Amino acid sequence: MESNTRKRLIIAVDGPAGSGKSSASRLLAERLSYRYIDTGAMYRAAAVAAYRSGVSVENDVALEQLMKDVVISFKSGRIHLDGEDVSRAIREPEIDGLSSAVSARAPIRKALIALQRRMAENGGVVMEGRDIGTVVLPDADIKFFITASAEVRGRRRYTERIERGETADLEEVIEAMKRRDERDAQRELSPLVPADDAQVLETSSLNLEEVVDRMMERAKKHGI
Ligand code: C5P
Repeated sequence: MESNTRKRLIIAVDGPAGSGKSSASRLLAERLSYRYIDTGAMYRAAAVAAYRSGVSVENDVALEQLMKDVVISFKSGRIHLDGEDVSRAIREPEIDGLSSAVSARAPIRKALIALQRRMAENGGVVMEGRDIGTVVLPDADIKFFITASAEVRGRRRYTERIERGETADLEEVIEAMKRRDERDAQRELSPLVPADDAQVLETSSLNLEEVVDRMMERAKKHGI
């Protein structure tokens, strides 16, 4: 009875790379039995599509057509491109760089933002990205902006790479993180800034459970 009357909210989560927002969003969605939507994975899938079809990131006409021709979707939490599970392909190093370039292009953002809005329209979602609370879903019920210092985020990325057996230089990773922050905050389309009504969570000294607990506290105030 109670579950039928519970509100199905729209929760927007934004923040920079390495802030832990993906893990926190996934866990929050799990606790609430909501759908988790990783919009970064959608931009990465668009980059895979551009890469495979040989479309130049400079060519807006071709990018617009590309977005009409491909289907990007989630099935059981995994990202699919034209029905193919590309969850691994989107994490390849060449896609890292390309996704950043692709995500700055207007035809790509226009198509993916429209798709993201459709995915959220029935509520019961935790949507995570860079511009969810500001551009995609400005009317979201709850907005979080999750951040941490560049040093902490750089160290997390560094540890991930070492654990994957890759080589990395900590100072370089931190510097790259700062450069990316600056680029993301200053870009023309959907710059990375907290929405005015977002709750900012500085997570440098918090673990994952503590972050999700704070998000749950806020969600409970909304009658979840
Ligand atoms: O978060 P992730 O690294 O997977 O994002 C991939 C790329 O997509 C990044 O370059 C990020 O800036 C971009 N992105 C975006 N808008 C979003 C989500 C991700 O521009 N809502």
